[in-house]
Amino acid sequence: MIEKQLEKLRQDFPILDIKVNNRPLVYLDNAATMQMPSAVMDRLQSFYTTSNANIHRGIHSLSEQSTKDYEAVRKKVSVFLGAESSEEIIFTSGTTAAINMVAGMVSEQLQTGDEIVITQMEHHSNFIPWQQLAQKKGVKLNVVPVDCNGVLNMECFHRMVNGKTRIVAMTELSNLTGIENPVEEMTAYVRDHSAAYVLIDGAQGVVHCRRNMSVLRPDFYCFSGHKLGAPTGTGILYIRKEVQSQLSPAWYGGGTVTSVSADKIGFLNGPAVFEPGTPNYAGVVGLGEVLDYWMNKELEMISEQYPKGWLSWECELLTYLEFGLQALDGVRILGTTDHRKGCVSVCAAGIHAFDFCKFLDQYGIAARSGHHCAMPYLQAMGAEYAVRFSVAPYNTMDEMDAAIWACDQTIKLLNGQREHGYKRSRKRHFE
Ligand code: ALA
Repeated sequence: MIEKQLEKLRQDFPILDIKVNNRPLVYLDNAATMQMPSAVMDRLQSFYTTSNANIHRGIHSLSEQSTKDYEAVRKKVSVFLGAESSEEIIFTSGTTAAINMVAGMVSEQLQTGDEIVITQMEHHSNFIPWQQLAQKKGVKLNVVPVDCNGVLNMECFHRMVNGKTRIVAMTELSNLTGIENPVEEMTAYVRDHSAAYVLIDGAQGVVHCRRNMSVLRPDFYCFSGHKLGAPTGTGILYIRKEVQSQLSPAWYGGGTVTSVSADKIGFLNGPAVFEPGTPNYAGVVGLGEVLDYWMNKELEMISEQYPKGWLSWECELLTYLEFGLQALDGVRILGTTDHRKGCVSVCAAGIHAFDFCKFLDQYGIAARSGHHCAMPYLQAMGAEYAVRFSVAPYNTMDEMDAAIWACDQTIKLLNGQREHGYKRSRKRHFE
């Protein structure tokens, strides 16, 4: 059954049929960006062919149509996230822009003695803006450490959140280990022990966890469209309605005001005030299309075996992959958890992650190597670089087998070469 559904799903992603280095592509870099379904490409083509005009600025028919399409996506995103209203949805260019925007908006509220809490698990995008803000404003930055398993130390979190805390920024799901944070519990703790804003980085979580904002009620939640297969340069910043009036916009520009004169300004209410300038409205239309696509596909897929539809399938793939990788010689899986989602990262004894990945590429396997913009987290686990494999619903079990086989070959080849080189040089030395 799943084979047939998968075959059908994969037909929607033409890139999955290409060859890389004369091998069928096995795309396992989905945490960096997910591939785009044809429906989105077709929608962009039709939008540019029939409806393209700048939004919110014209009263001609084309502009009205374009504005309607753009605003319809705001509604769609609010349904997708379970927000209380579409007024809570701000379009941005991605997660990084959203977090920097929030840092800019809350900056003027920070005073001496205030504190910011982040975690050691953060992607640099949710680390550097807060570190820089803390330095600029002279406030304390508390970084919640992880234990040797890569899991947040909740005792430290509890100690660090207190009456002085003004902002708590945390990831929903790690882009390095695939470990999920208990963000419900953490948000509730912040609410009970401080008056801090809560920001949740949903860049990976939105793909694999899918939380409901009306239940979670953070102050801010953000994600990037391209990680769901939307065009790049699209993203969402959810801002809880109740806090919007406490925030001054981080950026200023066209489309945000009721009136401007040399000494006076009247700002609009609602999301428009946070979206200065011409947004990536065509990209947003593509984002709407991909949300429709996944919402429909997930409903189709739900069954007793796969209660969360394609999300359950991804978990099955990842469990199999982790099990296979674990059995390989000298491979260490980063982070220990029973609930890994989206990705798994490894270090192989004596093999640099870049060499590892480059060899995998020769087998058509697209994985990612490097520090994954998570240096503090990697360091906490005693590693400098890692190889990451990240899955999407369109991946198959055969691809997991291909990746495990290619890793095994790579390890044997690179270890074999080193032994060979070592023996040869020793021989030369003794000659
Ligand atoms: N943040 C993306 C990743 O983790 C690019 O790969």
